[in-house]
Amino acid sequence: MRAIVVPAYGDSSVLEYAERPDPEPGPGEVLVEVAATGVNFIDVYHREGRYPMPLPLVPGNEGAGTVTAVGPGVTDVVPGDRVAWASVMGSYAAKVVVPAEKAVRLPEGLAPDLAAAVLLQGLTAHYLTHSTYAIRSGDDVLVHAAAGGMGLLLVQMAKLRGARVIGTVSSAEKEKLARQAGADEVVGYEGFTEAVKEITDGAGVHVVYDGVGATTFDGSLASLRPRGMMALYGAASGPVPPFDPQRLNAGGSLFLTRPTLAHYTATREELLSRANDLLGWVASGAVKVHISQRYPLAEARRAHDDLEGRRTTGKLLLIP
Ligand SMILES: NC(=O)c1ccc[n+]([C@@H]2O[C@H](COP(=O)([O-])OP(=O)(O)OC[C@H]3O[C@@H](n4cnc5c(N)ncnc54)[C@H](OP(=O)(O)O)[C@@H]3O)[C@@H](O)[C@H]2O)c1
Repeated sequence: MRAIVVPAYGDSSVLEYAERPDPEPGPGEVLVEVAATGVNFIDVYHREGRYPMPLPLVPGNEGAGTVTAVGPGVTDVVPGDRVAWASVMGSYAAKVVVPAEKAVRLPEGLAPDLAAAVLLQGLTAHYLTHSTYAIRSGDDVLVHAAAGGMGLLLVQMAKLRGARVIGTVSSAEKEKLARQAGADEVVGYEGFTEAVKEITDGAGVHVVYDGVGATTFDGSLASLRPRGMMALYGAASGPVPPFDPQRLNAGGSLFLTRPTLAHYTATREELLSRANDLLGWVASGAVKVHISQRYPLAEARRAHDDLEGRRTTGKLLLIP
């Protein structure tokens, strides 16, 4: 089968389109013929070696397709089932072995490319808005990179929960998309803290969802109201340097968390409960999925360059 391989850590030029042996499902695993693979920023971190893993590696964490074989002990997934998954390494490939406990069966009528486009970021937006900080109606919420894959979903879910949403973006095109997703106010990054203070009559927001990291972190903390929550869930602009907890006191008894999807889908029950909400909203149209680009799998380099170059909006897919 064809797959994308990272033989050594580095920039996008290390991504190779190569022939690999067909994988076989072991106990508790299923083999899936991939219809579409989701591109996520974490794929860039894996390619760069920010979270070191044995090399060579096949990157990619998300996809959807049709089960073609099941390993010993698998009873609740059968060949022919259409499934999607998140947090399964090796997804930039034509065939992927998925632990059965991570396979989410697609509801009738839901296209696999839509599922591959929404599962990882949608589950993340779900836990951030419902669990990390459970937004209450009337809360003020700040979402950075509001037109990105995560951003558009966070904006929509925050609106579903009744928040007033302020988004940051870097261009007029992104502003338009963030507003279409429901953002009440959209501002640039320059001076965003002052803009937030003005919009909230000096109070600050209840929660900041910050996946940008290095360049926004200080301003995000300064945008919070006393006892507000800083949900630092990523580092698209680079990692945040070491941090003095005293700053939380000075900022108003603030909370800081650095959450990740694995801990909020720790059991199959939790995974399916969040996926059920998410795919239900997608089916009903309550949450819209914006797929901005589809690349042939062979062109993963171009997808990474576009994502890192801030040229993208919404979701990017690779098609094997
Ligand atoms: N913790 C978790 O569970 C979890 C799960 C999924 C994703 N994430 C994180 O969520 C964040 C967003 O991921 P995504 O896949 O949805 O990507 P994305 O938001 O679609 O793309 C990244 C966006 O970040 C903004 N950005 C600001 N400064 C940047 C810089 N220096 N370089 C690149 N981008 C910059 C850009 O939007 P503007 O041009 O508008 O600034 C860019 O489009 C990432 O940090 C990712 O690691 C975390």
